Amino acid sequence: MSLNGKVALITGGAKNLGAQTARDLASVGANLALHYHSEGSKKDASTLEAELRQKYPSLKVGFYQGDLTTAGAVTQLFQDVKRDFGQIDIVVNTVGKVLKKPITDITEEEYDSMFAINTKSAFFVLKEAATHVTDGGNIITIATSLLGAFTGHYTSYAGSKAPVEHFTRGVSKELQPRGIRVNSIAPGPMDTPFFYPQESPEAVEFHRSNALGSRLTKTEDIAPIIKFLCSEGGWITGQTLFANGGYTTR
Ligand SMILES: NC(=O)c1ccc[n+]([C@@H]2O[C@H](COP(=O)([O-])OP(=O)(O)OC[C@H]3O[C@@H](n4cnc5c(N)ncnc54)[C@H](OP(=O)(O)O)[C@@H]3O)[C@@H](O)[C@H]2O)c1
Repeated sequence: MSLNGKVALITGGAKNLGAQTARDLASVGANLALHYHSEGSKKDASTLEAELRQKYPSLKVGFYQGDLTTAGAVTQLFQDVKRDFGQIDIVVNTVGKVLKKPITDITEEEYDSMFAINTKSAFFVLKEAATHVTDGGNIITIATSLLGAFTGHYTSYAGSKAPVEHFTRGVSKELQPRGIRVNSIAPGPMDTPFFYPQESPEAVEFHRSNALGSRLTKTEDIAPIIKFLCSEGGWITGQTLFANGGYTTR
C-alpha cells in the first residue's frame, strides 16, 4: 500500500482527527496540504509541521489558513494548493462545529453558523474537489454517527451534517466516470476537545457505555479507515461509513 507521489489536502488538518489523518497518510508516502482555521489552531499547525518534517523529511508539507464558510475562500484554498503542489489526489474534509441545545433555545445566528460550517462549507469543498481532484482520486467528508441516532438536542448539528450523506451519494455518481471515489465517514463520539465542552460528565459516561469496550471513538480508530479508503478500499464509493464501536446501528 503506497500513496507515494500523491497529494492529500486535509481541511482542519492541523489537529485532532485532521492531524491523525495527516500522520496516517504521511506514513504511506502522501504529500500533505494542511488547512487550519483559527489563530488558536496556528500553534497546532507549527507543532504538527515540526513532527512531520522530522519524521518524513522527503515529503512535501504545506499549511494554509482560512475560514471556509464562503465559496470564494474554498476556491482560493484549492487554487493555492494546486499552485504549490501541482495536483490534488485526495481531499479529506474534517471541518465541523457542534451545538447541543433544545431547539427552543437555538437562535437564528446559531442556525446560520451551524449550516455555514457543516453544510455550506462541505458542499463547496465537494464542488472544488470534484473540479480539481485527479482521475482515480478520493474525496472524503467527515459527518457524525448522530445521523443514525434518535436523539434530541443535536438537531442543528446532526441536521446540518445530514446533507453530507446526500451530497456524497450525488457527487459519487457524477464522478464515477473519472474513477474518483466519494465517501463520508460517520464517527461515534470521539475523544477530542471538540466533544467535551457541551457534555456533562454523566453524558460522557452514557456515550462511553454505548460502544465496544465502554470507550469513546478515538481519532486512531478513524484515520486508518480514511487511509484504507484511499488505498485498498477502492471498491467503496457513495457510502457513509458508520465507525463507532457499535454506538449506533447504521
Ligand atoms: N469529536 C467528536 O465527538 C466527533 C464525533 C463525530 C464526528 N465529528 C466530526 O469530526 C470532524 C473533526 O472533529 P474533531 O473532533 O477532530 O475536532 P476539531 O479538530 O475541532 O475539528 C473541527 C475542525 O473544523 C474547523 N473549523 C471550524 N469552523 C471552521 C470554519 N469556519 N472554517 C474552516 N474550518 C473550520 C476547526 O478549526 P478551528 O478549531 O481552528 O476553528 C477544526 O479544525 C468534525 O467535522 C466533527 O463534526 C466529531
